[in-house]
Amino acid sequence: MKKRKWIWIGGAILIIGIAIGGYLMEKQTLRKLAENDDLLIGSSIRYDALLEDDTYQRLATTEFSSWTIENEMKMDAMQPEQGAFNFVKVDEMVQMAEEHDIKLRGHVLVWGEALPEWVSQQVVDRASAEQVLKTHIQELVKHYKGSIDTFDVVNEAWNDDGTLRDTIWLRTIGPDYIPLAFQWAREANPDAKLYYNDYGNEMSNAKSEAMLEALSNWKKDGIPIDGIGMQTHVDAADSRFSKNRIQEWFTRIEDAGFDIAVTEMDVKLQNLNNGDAKNVQAERFGDVMEVCLDTPACGEFTVWGISDNHSWVTEQESPNGKPLLFDENGQPKKAYNTLKRKLLF
Ligand code: G3I
Repeated sequence: MKKRKWIWIGGAILIIGIAIGGYLMEKQTLRKLAENDDLLIGSSIRYDALLEDDTYQRLATTEFSSWTIENEMKMDAMQPEQGAFNFVKVDEMVQMAEEHDIKLRGHVLVWGEALPEWVSQQVVDRASAEQVLKTHIQELVKHYKGSIDTFDVVNEAWNDDGTLRDTIWLRTIGPDYIPLAFQWAREANPDAKLYYNDYGNEMSNAKSEAMLEALSNWKKDGIPIDGIGMQTHVDAADSRFSKNRIQEWFTRIEDAGFDIAVTEMDVKLQNLNNGDAKNVQAERFGDVMEVCLDTPACGEFTVWGISDNHSWVTEQESPNGKPLLFDENGQPKKAYNTLKRKLLF
């Protein structure tokens, strides 16, 4: 009799616990839940959408504790004419972020893409390239000192086979453009957190091994590379995805002394031809969140957009991609609830 009584009491406690957990999860935002894990939860943010789409603005300001400037800080937007810096849009985003106590991630100081036209005319040799790059990096970092203190300094420098990507910076300066960029950024703001950022580098492969070896060597030589950003653009149909391999890789990066950020996660669905797409998507988001939570060096988990109607996948790959946490009407998807569950338990 006594035994049965305890079973009842145990069962009741369990049910109450589950109910309270469910209630807490329902009521809390991603941001609130991530605070308890000491994790920044971010999204990339677009200026136009922030101003024109009320639902987007509500989600951006309530669900996330970090914003990455999606396009407005790229070189073509920031310096459309040589020496004529256009800070207006990002300044407005900074102000709005401050009003909502949201941290900002600067994206991106050096990339082979999103370049203004004048670069191909003015950057003709090593000296002109160094002058242009140093000025660009230091003007931006100095302008945002005190309001943006984390930057993706160099973006997408390696090819899949582990060779360096052919960009105007590699052609003119050579591989040194990478360590130089970090040094120039550090000079402009000694307190900033400086990241290398790439895609396809979230597991061990030819590209990520080449990246880690080079970044580690530079770091040993005193180049101020604080962290590595793993973009984590995932194709739900890609059978190479492996939570264990991601965990192994994050641990290796941590052991090499780098901070880690998941910087651009999305999970596109257009290549997955079965009815299970939403579950696979939720599972992938959940797996990467779990790895991040289990890796002390991982301090940020950022998704590349808020709702499916403002996504580069929808615009540039397929309207069936639907890669984000909220649908085109701003309604939460299964992946959103999965992330909340991972953060809560
Ligand atoms: O806003 C203009 C619009 O006014 C114009 O009519 C239209 C015509 O092409 O273009 C619109 O701008 C586009 C912008 O996205 C906003 O949608 C640009 O052409 C287009 O090039 C731009 O693409 C961005 C891409 O980077 C290139 O800069 C994507 O939004 C952005 O999500 C994507 O982000 C990159 C990261 O920076 C680095 N990692 C990969 C990631 C995905 O490609």
